[in-house]
Amino acid sequence: MTTRANSNTLPTLLRHPAGSLATATALALAALTGLGAGKAQAQTPVATVPIVDEVPFIVSPDNVTLEMLRIASVGAKDHVIDLGSGDGRIITTAAKRFGATGLGVEIDPSLVEKSRKIAAEAGVGDKVEFRIQDLFTTDLSKATVITMYLLPDFNMRLRPSILALKPGTRIVSHDWDMGEWKPDQTTVLSVPDKQVGREKSSKVHFWTVPAQVAGLWCGAGPLGSYSLRLTQNFQEVTGTLQRRERRWPITGRMQGPTLATEETAVGSLVLERDGQALRLAGGKGPVALAKGTSFTAAKGSDCGKGGKA
Ligand SMILES: C[S@@+](CC[C@H](N)C(=O)[O-])C[C@H]1O[C@@H](n2cnc3c(N)ncnc32)[C@H](O)[C@@H]1O
Repeated sequence: MTTRANSNTLPTLLRHPAGSLATATALALAALTGLGAGKAQAQTPVATVPIVDEVPFIVSPDNVTLEMLRIASVGAKDHVIDLGSGDGRIITTAAKRFGATGLGVEIDPSLVEKSRKIAAEAGVGDKVEFRIQDLFTTDLSKATVITMYLLPDFNMRLRPSILALKPGTRIVSHDWDMGEWKPDQTTVLSVPDKQVGREKSSKVHFWTVPAQVAGLWCGAGPLGSYSLRLTQNFQEVTGTLQRRERRWPITGRMQGPTLATEETAVGSLVLERDGQALRLAGGKGPVALAKGTSFTAAKGSDCGKGGKA
């Protein structure tokens, strides 16, 4: 790691006199800040910045740190993991201000040491842990909330592991998104003293890991003559509700394990992925009256007689 910043100050490239690591860091910095990486890279548009193997240390300012924790509704029941935890401010704040437990993983040992000291001084040393660890080999399964301030390429490399986490796990990223997986919410914050990038603002993106619901689902009990065929693109769901020869188009959105559909001619549905079933948890209209009934994943290519699909 070559670049260090004091709180909210412009990072400087310090350690590597020349060579590929310095160049990689400069490119990383350029991408992180949205700036060109100086004269040598003046012709390199940020959009074509190649895959880089490191992210410079730049802190999330206090108002951004607070918004990252607020947007994810962090509370005392949460376990927050910060990927690339820097000086540990996100994890320490999550514990101190919101009562959460947390883990920060960071490749720079001096930053880990600093984080432990700051957390101890803040009186939350027993609620948080900081490890010298590569974020790509970190077990994320215990996280209820994951925070990150990395680079676009890092976010994209993490995306498959994040999407495989327990539905409902909340994800927050400072400034960078995750490509076609659009955020559920984005806040733009004024950061007048932001000394990196052209914009005097930061974006905070928020996602909830969606359950997988694509496929054919067959109704049971009072919904025995119904079937649901769903297609999913991250949290966006489209499909068809069918009863015998009648079909109603479905459009809906996942929030963690829950699919909420828009109104159709037969009302709206709220369905929850519950193990191998999709349980009707609510909604409005005649189908929703069967609340509590489940659809189960089809074993073949149709549901048999009633809800043929
Ligand atoms: C932009 S800073 C963000 C620091 C902190 N999360 C914050 O928002 O204030 C990114 C941090 O990620 C760390 N980092 C980069 N690559 C890493 C890796 N592969 N594993 C763990 N940490 C990494 C860097 O050392 C740096 O401290």
